[in-house]
Amino acid sequence: MEKNFKRTLVTTALPYANGPVHIGHLAGVYVPADIYVRYLRLKGEEVLFIGGSDEHGVPITIKAKAEGVTPQDIVDRYHNIIKDSFGELGISFDVYGRTTSETHRKMASDFFRRLYDKGEFVEKSSEQLYDEQAGQFLADRYVTGTCPHCGNEHAYGDQCEACGTSLNATDLINPRSAITGNVPVMRETSHWYLPLDKWEPRLREWILEEHKEWKPNVYGQCKSWLDLGLQPRAVSRDLDWGISVPVEGAEGKVLYVWFDAPIGYISNTVDCVGDDWTKWWKDPETRMLHFIGKDNIVFHCIVFPAMLMADGTYNLPDNVPANEFLNLEDDKISTSRNWAVWLHEYLRELPGKQDTLRYVLTANAPETKDNNFTWKDFQTRNNSELVAILGNFINRAVVLAGKYYDGKVPEAGEFTDFDRATMDEIARAVAAVGENLDNFKFREALREAMNVARAGNKYLADSEPWKLAKTDPERVGTILNLALQICADLAVVFEPFLPFMSEKLCRMLGLESLGWDMAGRFDLLPAGRQLGEVELLFEKIEDSTVEFQVNKLLEAKKQNQLAAWKPAPVKENVDFPTYEKLDIRVGRVLECEKVKKADKLLRFLIDDGMEKRTIVSGIAKHYAPEDLIGKEVCFIANFEPRKLKGIVSEGMILSAEDADGRLVVIGPQGEVAPGSTVG
Ligand code: MF3
Ligand code: ZN
Repeated sequence: MEKNFKRTLVTTALPYANGPVHIGHLAGVYVPADIYVRYLRLKGEEVLFIGGSDEHGVPITIKAKAEGVTPQDIVDRYHNIIKDSFGELGISFDVYGRTTSETHRKMASDFFRRLYDKGEFVEKSSEQLYDEQAGQFLADRYVTGTCPHCGNEHAYGDQCEACGTSLNATDLINPRSAITGNVPVMRETSHWYLPLDKWEPRLREWILEEHKEWKPNVYGQCKSWLDLGLQPRAVSRDLDWGISVPVEGAEGKVLYVWFDAPIGYISNTVDCVGDDWTKWWKDPETRMLHFIGKDNIVFHCIVFPAMLMADGTYNLPDNVPANEFLNLEDDKISTSRNWAVWLHEYLRELPGKQDTLRYVLTANAPETKDNNFTWKDFQTRNNSELVAILGNFINRAVVLAGKYYDGKVPEAGEFTDFDRATMDEIARAVAAVGENLDNFKFREALREAMNVARAGNKYLADSEPWKLAKTDPERVGTILNLALQICADLAVVFEPFLPFMSEKLCRMLGLESLGWDMAGRFDLLPAGRQLGEVELLFEKIEDSTVEFQVNKLLEAKKQNQLAAWKPAPVKENVDFPTYEKLDIRVGRVLECEKVKKADKLLRFLIDDGMEKRTIVSGIAKHYAPEDLIGKEVCFIANFEPRKLKGIVSEGMILSAEDADGRLVVIGPQGEVAPGSTVG
């Protein structure tokens, strides 16, 4: 049922302040949310856009311990990096708060206390995992073990990332402490639980009956959760990082991070608008939207709504347009493996290219299924769409007006049928942009926005005003007038997607303020208006830029391989007589050259102290032949001769294989006469 709302509150998942944000976060949450908010603002709607950092939770304490600093040091560092990089990308939050703020501590604490006083929690004692050496209970990411559902041996105490199942620490098979690696013991502790089972009937009704319009991926995930049956969920933890449980005798216990974090949306609203906050959270004429990634669906569609229901005075979200995941170069984005494009690095390495990233992430958004980002695709979309279609059209229109009309908007004469067909197509595309945005279909909306530019490009190409300058100047005026009006339409329809381009274009066209109702009109620029200076809107991305980025990723992959490398297991023992059979010697390299038609082989001529012998060795990929001439190497002198590429090899040169597969020739550390035995 369509309701009439007066205003919209848009929230975006609060990123954990234990690392910077990457393109997966952006494509899934922040870019679509920002597009949507900018669109509403253009429509003149009342909207509040909430962001902030999630600064509690175990991953932050683990990182702090690893670096030997405090959790507060960690969140201060990343909160600032994240906040600044969002700002630079043009994510237009009305507020970007943090969950270590005093406002939030009080808000979350009061929220808990209200539910506690109303008797909405169940207090239960149970046996939980405890690390005796660390002197600490283990929950969430402090425990790893085998997932009972899929057998993944690296599941965490709150979730298995392989199958996506949400877990309790005590569900894990063979649990281990992430702090000490010890096998934990069981110890009794008591916690407060939110009885989700109590809210199940209402949640079923609210989601499954009243919100059939939610995206299929969101609706489907909710349905399978509800069909499994909901259990009470602990909302406190035995930890020393977090918001203290505001109940007497609860020393050493803090609110579970997933209890306090969504309340962060409320606290950040308070920090933004003060006492007016209740209007945004409690007035039924306010519509609330949560933009999140798919791993957050259960918390935003089931747990947080149950908390709000338990309080009883809050609105529930109207929609939760969650996205799937973005992969990077066909591999899952991973913070721990450094397989990511980090926003703050992108901004540094590709300065001034915010809109290109926004464009590519929207064109490729993982809206209905996981999607893939590649640097090659990034380059292609920039060069053949932003530069060749959008930038090219605007540039041609403005340059032609400069050439024929001294940079003024010419008078339009009579429009032809061809002109009208172009206007119709543009009006259609503009309407489609709006309709798709209304339905959270950002990729399709962007495609239709590009269709406006395509129509403009085609209009100029087909009407060829440059050929009419001498014969029909009035017609040239009409064509350029319309082309410039289309540019003004582009400034409007692209503002939500490419705000930096739109701002430049407004300067060029002398447009002071934009409104969505301007889009699709052809009278936005009065005849005689002096256009501003022509600015470059997009520039080509060179192959070298793509290569640099791809190499950076390959380097990360290599570092991971090195980190994961283990020496090969030791072979079966041999006795002394067997060992003695091997005759290892020192030799001096007299000649060394590549073997023809064998890219791995080098042919050596070795001085073995008695005569010269030929040895063929498979190290051509690792050495330039001239670098080995004159060097001393160790070789097996009694190795059965064998033929390699037609050359008889009389021995084997010893080399060590490094973690990354690199071969290093073994030789004596001091001066030794050729022919000396090694043993
Ligand atoms: N920090 C969480 C994550 O990155 C998201 C928290 S969203 C909120 O998965 F609702 F809890 F704020
Ligand atoms: Zn699993």
